[in-house]
Amino acid sequence: MIQEKAKEIFDRASEEIGSVSTTKDLYELKVKYLGKSGEFSLLMRDLGQLSKEDRPIVGKEINVLKRQLTEMLDDKQQALQSSEMAEKLEKDRLDLTLSGPTRVRGSRHPLSLVMEEIVDILANIGFSVRTGPLIESDWYNFEALNIPKDHPARDMQDTFYIDETHVLRTHTSPIQIRTMEKEEPPIRILAPGSVFRCDSDVTHSPNFYQIEGLLIDKEVSMAHLKGTISYFVKSFFGPEIETRFRPSFFPFTEPSAEVDCSCPKCKGEGCRLCSHTGWIEIGGSGLVHPKVIEYAKLDSKKWQGFAFGFGIERMAMIKYGIDDIRLFNENNTDFLSQFI
Ligand code: PHE
Repeated sequence: MIQEKAKEIFDRASEEIGSVSTTKDLYELKVKYLGKSGEFSLLMRDLGQLSKEDRPIVGKEINVLKRQLTEMLDDKQQALQSSEMAEKLEKDRLDLTLSGPTRVRGSRHPLSLVMEEIVDILANIGFSVRTGPLIESDWYNFEALNIPKDHPARDMQDTFYIDETHVLRTHTSPIQIRTMEKEEPPIRILAPGSVFRCDSDVTHSPNFYQIEGLLIDKEVSMAHLKGTISYFVKSFFGPEIETRFRPSFFPFTEPSAEVDCSCPKCKGEGCRLCSHTGWIEIGGSGLVHPKVIEYAKLDSKKWQGFAFGFGIERMAMIKYGIDDIRLFNENNTDFLSQFI
């Protein structure tokens, strides 16, 4: 009997639907019973054996069972889908308290830090910052600083020439002239910035930094220069650090003096940093040459002044015990991140 067979298939199918536990297995059941060659389809084929009158009646009964089965499959499908989703959500849960990938924070460059500290110290006694161009005319870089064309001092500063009359500035001293031209004395300025010389080894870089100081006032003497620089050295390196002035020569200062500080590492005992002399040179200084004051169109009878120029890399190397100048330009973050 077809109806009995249909009922038997239906019962078996509903039992199996009841115990199935994954959507994948459920799909297989659907194929098994309702698919093209599934049990119900095969049964429908047997309808042909029935009489004309019975065929529609039995066919209808089988269709009712098929529809019921389809509904049961759909309901079960929904139930399984939502429990599988709940399980997936539980398993794949996001832990928002986990820390994410860390991002390395940048830090100030040691040369910027040193430059800023020097400016801060001298700002306390009235100096303020001026700047000037990196490409400088022959006049400001040399002539107005009392360095004529054939002067041997031009060899001292291995110059990068741009053309016949322009150079990459070899020092920050041209800002002395530019400031005196523009401003009325008294003048108390600092000029930090990049300078260029054709020179390169462990202690020399073709592009390095200097800070220039210039004071123009009445009756300025070497005593003012020494007092100012000693105050600066003690503030920057520490109160126990002494300053020494050695007679020297610069075309734009007279008298001129090289500035040394007692070695902050060995406190003057003698070590590698100070080549066992106990002293380290930090720059040049002197009283502004009257000719330079005149070149800048001031009256040298009325106004005198002192000037100094320090190497920023040098000061940073001494302060932090760095023995290779190239480290400043290598962008190695292990090195740079030490100076926060
Ligand atoms: N401009 C000199 C140099 O670069 C340093 C200096 C500045 C010397 C001011 C005396 C006065 O070597």
